[in-house]
Amino acid sequence: EFKDNTLVVVFGASGDLAKKKTFPALFGLYRDNFLPKGVHIVGYARTKMDEAEFHKRATQYIKNPDNSPEITEKIEEFKKLSSYISGSYEDSDAFENLEKHLQGIESAYQGDETHRLFYLALPPSVFIPVATNVKKFNYTTKGINRIIVEKPFGRDLDSSRELLGSLKKSWTEDETFRIDHYLGKEMVKNILVLRFANIALNAAWDKNSISSVQITFKEPFGTEGRGGYFDEFGIIRDILQNHLLQVLSVLTMERPVSFASEDIRDEKVKVLRAIPPIEPSDTLLGQYVAANGKPGYLDDDTVPHNSVCPTFAATTLWIHNPRWEGVPFILKAGKALNEAKVEVRIQFKDVTQGIFKDISRNELVLRIQPSEAVYLKLNTKTPGLYTRALPTEMDLTYKRRFQDAKIPEAYEALILDALKGDHSNFVRDDELDVAWKIFTPILHWIEGKNGAAPKPVPYPYGSRGPKELDAFIGKYGFRRSQEGYVWPVTSLS
Ligand code: BG6
Repeated sequence: EFKDNTLVVVFGASGDLAKKKTFPALFGLYRDNFLPKGVHIVGYARTKMDEAEFHKRATQYIKNPDNSPEITEKIEEFKKLSSYISGSYEDSDAFENLEKHLQGIESAYQGDETHRLFYLALPPSVFIPVATNVKKFNYTTKGINRIIVEKPFGRDLDSSRELLGSLKKSWTEDETFRIDHYLGKEMVKNILVLRFANIALNAAWDKNSISSVQITFKEPFGTEGRGGYFDEFGIIRDILQNHLLQVLSVLTMERPVSFASEDIRDEKVKVLRAIPPIEPSDTLLGQYVAANGKPGYLDDDTVPHNSVCPTFAATTLWIHNPRWEGVPFILKAGKALNEAKVEVRIQFKDVTQGIFKDISRNELVLRIQPSEAVYLKLNTKTPGLYTRALPTEMDLTYKRRFQDAKIPEAYEALILDALKGDHSNFVRDDELDVAWKIFTPILHWIEGKNGAAPKPVPYPYGSRGPKELDAFIGKYGFRRSQEGYVWPVTSLS
């Protein structure tokens, strides 16, 4: 259910995440009339600035490509319902001051109930002091309190447990919403429906039919500008341990008893618990080097000159349960590659040979971005007076099939869920714990905790990744499509 009289307080309001994602998402919800009645947004950060400057920054990434007067007007309205307070993240006085501001806004509300949603778009160093201070000074007794937090949730199992433990001193699990924004993406949300609402797909969803699964994340730009942050974490913590593992869990979980959040999360945790820690032998690490006029990772001044931090990783996970035993799940992610693409590729087994020789395998591809699509590669008879199999596809490209549909931004979907108190697309405490159990040993190995740190292999900026990648994937039985087959991506923008 949805509560009127809600205050949304965004901490870290002058930071990148808030500017690029949080405020534009709040605006998107406002524009489409999804925010509760009487909503007010309060930005909070250390930076001193007046309201006009805050409004400028908070709306700078809101898109209005055609300069539509309607959107311009909505932006002005949105500014009127947002205000800004600056202050420290540690001092009690600052939070008391914020409290006065919040109560001032609430005094205009009708009725006795008021609700507060606190969004922490903050670096890990101030995360706990803010969560603790908010609980102490800004927790309302007149309604519901909720807190949204963002990764990084620690760097390994121990630090994650410590962080969670500290947060739990002030906030209950029910009040806490841990964001993994991949869970808010339309095509990731679609996985449960595709799987469980289609008996034809569901029947083939196991080790008997599936040969391998790849979950791929590719970005065409490097870490320019955030090298310092990135070097502390690396691509595995940035993408694999959270975003790609979340996709994997919805792809492989058993059918939940219902769509209730805890039913879904129970099944996700169950399948994750059947995954042993990743082995070094199932891992390929890369780091990009200068090419085509673009700088290498180590050319960034904020990166230590001898860093062995991976900017590319491919790792294979195994699930020890009756449905998935023996099926390799390859998670791959890289920065500074040849294209922007996130997709899941499920490759089916060969048909029994005999009447056919060397025909392509079926593949089901879920294209998460860009241009959402689901397509199934299948063999058909070559049209005409031939009896030859030809690889082709059944193609559900969203832009073509759902021309009028507006695909929401992941952050819009998730903030709306948090306002409604729906936890299904947020990461539960035990889920985070098991995710770290899978990745911690390999992360410690990469950091040289048990011996010499492995050196990532180089790959040129703008390439498909390390040249070793094809052999790596080949090891798990993945077969390339027949020469010449490409899915015709239609760019209907
Ligand atoms: C973030 C990572 O979580 O996800 C970034 O920290 C990455 O490094 C981003 O660029 C990708 O998100 P999206 O929604 O653009 O695929």
